[in-house]
Amino acid sequence: MSYIQLKDIVKQYGTKEDTVHALNKINLNIEKGEMIAVLGTSGSGKSTLLNLIGCLDKSTSGKYIYDGKDITKCEDKELAIIRNTKIGFIFQTFSLITDYNVIENVEMPLVYRKLLLGNTKKLDKYEIKSLALKYLKKVDMDKFANKKVTELSGGQQQRVAVARALVNSPDIILADEPTGSLDKENSFNIIKILKDINKTTNTTVILVTHDEEIAKVCEKIIRIEDGCIVQSVSL
Ligand SMILES: Nc1ncnc2c1ncn2[C@@H]1O[C@H](COP(=O)(O)OP(=O)(O)O)[C@@H](O)[C@H]1O
Ligand SMILES: [Mg+2]
Repeated sequence: MSYIQLKDIVKQYGTKEDTVHALNKINLNIEKGEMIAVLGTSGSGKSTLLNLIGCLDKSTSGKYIYDGKDITKCEDKELAIIRNTKIGFIFQTFSLITDYNVIENVEMPLVYRKLLLGNTKKLDKYEIKSLALKYLKKVDMDKFANKKVTELSGGQQQRVAVARALVNSPDIILADEPTGSLDKENSFNIIKILKDINKTTNTTVILVTHDEEIAKVCEKIIRIEDGCIVQSVSL
C-alpha cells in the first residue's frame, strides 16, 4: 500500500452559482522516501493539492489515505496532531514569526507539540533549545540563533524555515514554491538541503515549483493543468 494515496480527489471553492474547480479527480500515489516535484502554471491547483496532502484543507470529495489512515474521516484535533508530528511545511514567503528571534521560531513546533499532546516526549525548555539548535546547525544558521528574523536575508530566512520544518522529525516535507522569493544561488542552496534530507533520512519531499530546472533535481515530476494531473514522469 502506498504511503500517500489520493483517489478521485475533487476540490471546489465558492458557491453553487460561482464554483471554482481547483482539483478535478486527482489520482496519485506517493511512496515513502520519494522526492517529487509538482509543476504547473499559476492557478493550476498546485497549492490546493499540497494543502490537502498537508491536512491544512479538506477535499470536496474523494478519498485520501495517509500512512494507512483515512484522512477524509479525521476530526480537526487529529489532523492538527498529524500536521504537527508527521509533516513539515515550507512556504514561499517563509512565514516566520517576526516577533520571535531565530531560535524561538524553530522551537515553536516543539512548544506546540507539548500543548497538543502533553509532554509525552518529556521535553523541557533546555532540550527544546538544544533540538532547535541542532537543526539550525544543519542549515548552517546556528550562529544567528539570537538574531531577529527581520535582520536576515531571504535565503537565510528560508533556511530558518527549513530548520523549523525539520525540528519535529517529520515523515514528509511539503514545500510550496520554497525558492519563489530567492535568487538562483539561494534557490539551489535550499534545494540541496532538501535533497540531502531526503537522501539521508528517507523523508518524503513534495516540492511545488514552476522552475523546470529545480524540478529536475527530483526523482519524479508531476505536471498539473487546470486541476488535473496531465503528466507523471520518473527521471
Ligand atoms: N480559498 C480560495 N477560494 C477560492 N478560490 C480559490 C481559493 N484558493 C485557490 N482558489 C482557486 O483555485 C485555483 C487553484 O489555485 P491554487 O491551488 O492556488 O493554484 P497554484 O498554486 O497552482 O497557483 C485557482 O483558480 C484559484 O484562484
Ligand atoms: Mg500556489
